[in-house]
Amino acid sequence: MVEYKGVMPDKSLQYIDAVKGKMRTMSPRDIADRTLSLVKTHDDWRRNHCLNLNPSENAISPGAQRLLDSDMATRVTEGFVGAKHYPPERMNVYIDEIEAMLVNEVKQMFDCKYVEYRPLNNTMANAVVFFSLTKPGETIMSQSMRGGANVSYHSSAVPGIRGLKVVDMAPTMDFRIDLEHLEKTAREVKPSWLVVGGGKILFPYNLKVIREIADEVGARIMYDAAHLGPLIAYDLWQKPLKEGADVMTTGTHKLMGGPIGGLILTDDEELARKIMA
Ligand SMILES: Cc1ncc(COP(=O)(O)O)c(C=O)c1O
Repeated sequence: MVEYKGVMPDKSLQYIDAVKGKMRTMSPRDIADRTLSLVKTHDDWRRNHCLNLNPSENAISPGAQRLLDSDMATRVTEGFVGAKHYPPERMNVYIDEIEAMLVNEVKQMFDCKYVEYRPLNNTMANAVVFFSLTKPGETIMSQSMRGGANVSYHSSAVPGIRGLKVVDMAPTMDFRIDLEHLEKTAREVKPSWLVVGGGKILFPYNLKVIREIADEVGARIMYDAAHLGPLIAYDLWQKPLKEGADVMTTGTHKLMGGPIGGLILTDDEELARKIMA
């Protein structure tokens, strides 16, 4: 794999080569059989011999699992629900009705005005926010990795590709945010966004104070609630949009038990227009 040298880690290249060695004597049928066998073995291990405590995932609900095996799950459409430009309208009627139900359900669940439900996962939901609502060269302040954040709002991921400078918020020992440090640093670096949330959240954030800091420096607030969706919907956690966040993202496959997907929620019409443009 000389051509990939420097593009992927050496360990990956060695692994791909080792598998290639095994594939030398395999027919296309053998490759298909091996794929099937790996999926079956994986499923048996995950379902019958493993207690999966990884909070990034869940056991998908049997109903959602069945729907993934439908023809509809592989159809391609483009445009907005009820007004798609591809494929022709009559081919979208079933999909459109489901999407319209989804929009209504999510708005009701989260008591919010606008929902973008098309991102393929939470990382992509976060990416849509950064690409639609920031300009290259801006600075954002993010919950730090040490404070429990996700890499998707750090410079090695989308913010880096977008040309944003990321300044870490200082964490407390219990994965909250050091608000004094935030206030002082935000005054210095004038971030356009304050990004809070993460995989490790033990307590609700003090969004009232974070909102005051954001207002003082002219920043918006994004709350990554990847793992918290149902808790927020059922009043078991703080409600980010009601307490001061401008945008909230969450995932459908962590606590929600659905297939992999991402949601962007906001009550702000101007932000919604840009997110969905
Ligand atoms: C806080 C947070 N945001 C985003 C993500 C990325 O989610 P996804 O796997 O849907 O891209 C994760 C992953 O666990 C996460 O913990």
